[in-house]
Amino acid sequence: MSDPIGLLQQPVTFPFSGRTAKNRFLKSAMSERLATFSTFYPPGRGRPTEELVRLYETWAKGDIGSSHPILLKHSNRIFKGIIVTGNIQIKKDHLEATGNTIVDRDLPSNYPEDWAEVARAAKSEGSLVIGQLNHPGRQVSINIQPYPEAPSDVEHPSTGGVLYGRPTPLTIAGINDIVQRFAYAASVLYKAGFDGIQVKFRLQHRTSPSLNQLQLHAAHGYLLSQFLAKSTNMRRDEYGGSLINRTRILLEIVEAIKQAVQNPCFIISVKLNSQDFTQEGINVEESIMVAELLENAGVDFIEVSGGTYAQTIYNSRDKPYSVETREGYFIQFAELLRPHLKFSKIVVTGGFRTAHGMSDAVSQGATDMIGLARPLTAEPHLVRDILRGEKNKVKDDKFPDSPLLRFVASAAQIAEIGNGQDITDFDNAFNVARFIAIMQKEIPATISEALF
Ligand SMILES: Cc1cc2nc3c(=O)[nH]c(=O)nc-3n(C[C@H](O)[C@H](O)[C@H](O)COP(=O)(O)O)c2cc1C
Repeated sequence: MSDPIGLLQQPVTFPFSGRTAKNRFLKSAMSERLATFSTFYPPGRGRPTEELVRLYETWAKGDIGSSHPILLKHSNRIFKGIIVTGNIQIKKDHLEATGNTIVDRDLPSNYPEDWAEVARAAKSEGSLVIGQLNHPGRQVSINIQPYPEAPSDVEHPSTGGVLYGRPTPLTIAGINDIVQRFAYAASVLYKAGFDGIQVKFRLQHRTSPSLNQLQLHAAHGYLLSQFLAKSTNMRRDEYGGSLINRTRILLEIVEAIKQAVQNPCFIISVKLNSQDFTQEGINVEESIMVAELLENAGVDFIEVSGGTYAQTIYNSRDKPYSVETREGYFIQFAELLRPHLKFSKIVVTGGFRTAHGMSDAVSQGATDMIGLARPLTAEPHLVRDILRGEKNKVKDDKFPDSPLLRFVASAAQIAEIGNGQDITDFDNAFNVARFIAIMQKEIPATISEALF
């Protein structure tokens, strides 16, 4: 029988940057919401805090990097993977949530020294650090931004009591401005010591009894996904209509980042972040074409993942296609994608819960790396423990079947780590009951209906 840990310790070299992750683990993006925020004074938003630095220091120690004497004694390899930050916004008044980090070229300062501290913390044990960049487009609560911008004026339907403003369609000049903002933010992070950038791009999958009928669909996502989705992109110019037109902004961003950074060793990646399962959508062929376009554009790896918000894949009533039999919600999609990519690596994130499930996914060739998110908020040192052979599965939890609740619990654990507090153990039924009681009190009834 193959050695599962040994496989997960193998390095991966990225085709375009030539950079190497020294093991098969990637800490997937999780919005930290630990930056400064001011409602009325946008320049006071988005600055990295001490808490953010502490969070990345903690993940660096356990996430993948380890100077543990036993490991070093048995091998001269150093076991380090990739840490991706939570989404960083490129415009101070277009946030995904309050407390987001921001790198906006209009701000008087983007705090390069603070970002250098974040990079130092995340890299302190040898991991590569990648900053995830984002613009929410129309998908932002009306309380945060009543006047969102988007490809077309298609309003986001209200979800769980959250209302959204009617977006203003971006002009061509506005689109060019956004492309340059992504590039600018990448260059700020590059100068601060980041090893690469990830652009978040949400797709929506449609589950089907037959794999051949599997549909992928982009809607309800952030700005770049709103360009891809026909339902949110009604444009008649070169950014709407054909698939290539709808992907154009993403490809321009990749090119602009290369121009701004001017270092071929800078990693560029894209997260195809799926959300829920709907009837509409682009088909598998089209989604694979998007991935091929990204490979042609020089994207080092494509992370395939699952949703995080209300109607997500984590709902057992609506399970994704591969979770019943294997770990990794998106393994089947990754398998379809794999033969079409000659160079770009694939990272599958979502649903990995055992060391064997992780190593099987790698050994069967569906994915090059294993992305982990929620398990790393409960146990920030999980990867280190798996690589040492001290753990073979992630911590369980006692939550009822509520995807959003588990999401909020992870967000709470992120805040605890950032604040240097003990992490709440949700494998303890009392802690879960107390957490649910607090949530019911603190959040509006409509959202709580969506949660419970
Ligand atoms: C608290 C929290 C915040 C998240 N924030 C982001 C984000 O900023 N960007 C992103 O692409 N995905 C985000 N995700 C999704 C995760 O990266 C990941 O795709 C998802 O949780 C599935 O992986 P898991 O089963 O290992 O948790 C977030 C998830 C959680 C739980």
